[in-house]
Amino acid sequence: MELKKGAPLTGELMVPADKSISHRAVMFGAISHGKTIIKNFLRAQDCMSTVHAFESLGVSIEDDGQVITVEGKGFEGLSPSTEPINVGNSGTTIRLLMGLLSKTGFETTLFGDDSLNKRPMDRVIDPLKEMGAVIEGSGPSLFPPVTIKGQHVLKPIDHQMAVASAQVKSAILFAAIQAKGTSHIIEKERSRNHTEEMIKQFGGEISVSGKEIFISGPQKLVGKEITVPGDISSAAFFIAAATLVKDSSITLKNVGVNPTRTGILEVLDKMGAKIKVCSYDKINQACDLQVEAANLLATTISGELIPRLIDELPIIALLSTQAKGTTIISDAQELKVKETNRIDATVEELKKMGADIEATEDGLIIHGPTPLHKATVSSRGDHRIGMMLQVAALVADGPVILQKSEAVAISYPNFFNDMSSLLSETGE
Ligand code: S3P
Repeated sequence: MELKKGAPLTGELMVPADKSISHRAVMFGAISHGKTIIKNFLRAQDCMSTVHAFESLGVSIEDDGQVITVEGKGFEGLSPSTEPINVGNSGTTIRLLMGLLSKTGFETTLFGDDSLNKRPMDRVIDPLKEMGAVIEGSGPSLFPPVTIKGQHVLKPIDHQMAVASAQVKSAILFAAIQAKGTSHIIEKERSRNHTEEMIKQFGGEISVSGKEIFISGPQKLVGKEITVPGDISSAAFFIAAATLVKDSSITLKNVGVNPTRTGILEVLDKMGAKIKVCSYDKINQACDLQVEAANLLATTISGELIPRLIDELPIIALLSTQAKGTTIISDAQELKVKETNRIDATVEELKKMGADIEATEDGLIIHGPTPLHKATVSSRGDHRIGMMLQVAALVADGPVILQKSEAVAISYPNFFNDMSSLLSETGE
């Protein structure tokens, strides 16, 4: 696909629904009792993998084009899939399902695409094993396919997390809520808390104080109506585009601003971006964001900020190539085990365009501002690398050929059209 230099971005955009919340809405709907109605569900490949997985486990899920209705069966109402379940590219589906299915009393095999089948599952399987779960994967990192031999009993866990990961935490919580007794989990750093929030929304009990979580089981959850806010991780690409392309001024509507996800806003504020947060909707934890073009300054990003902007690091790296000074990103080794090794993918693809960027053991060093040039680049099958490169093309001096552009459909099927709708002219 050929991408052109961008004219100023103007106008308004309703960004698509939050991916993390959409996955969890289906999961909680399925394991609760009674109906769950999901408004503004994200119909992207990853979330459809979750829908498909629960249909395979005997849950009825209807989409009337407006809302998704999940007929909750409770944990005990799930039934064995007749065949191994393909969860595509979705790390959230496979990891959360391992905890959720560890006490079914039946066996389930989950596998994914080539990328997912190379992602480590030991980080989830090891703590679940401590709880009495029986899960098999292959190789030293327990890669998929994984087979979950659902038990009849699970033990609670007292666990200090080794990685700052919401997927690992959520898998443990889905097991802990079924285990008899009180589990105690201490996070390495605070990560997105959508699972904790939804346990409460679906009528369950959980106590969270800083990095410390207590949850007792077994608990019974009750279905509800839920509205998914827009995804700040998708909004990030337009925030970046409007910041970088001179004379831009856009409004992004209904963007979820749960504080465990807003690291990018804090970093961009420090870098000198012009982002106004307005019309806060307290119930949905969502806001409209007004973004104008700005000149950026380099920054440093590390520590507790990392899990709060982990998926935004490739686009922050691109922003840093246009910021004055040296940006240093550290403590971000988790990037190496995402849909691609996002440290290498970001460095190698942006270097093709002339960026002054290097990989470190746990992050990136970027010198800016550097002009970006026309080049042939590739998403490498990673949706967020693909979207980052589309934004890079907007500030390049000539056309950029993006290979494997279809990967954006994993989280954002309409991404290129939405970008075109904000570009007031068709470019050079
Ligand atoms: C997610 C958690 C993050 C994030 C992923 C979605 C979630 O992964 O990168 O895109 O929905 O819980 P980790 O928990 O592995 O950091």
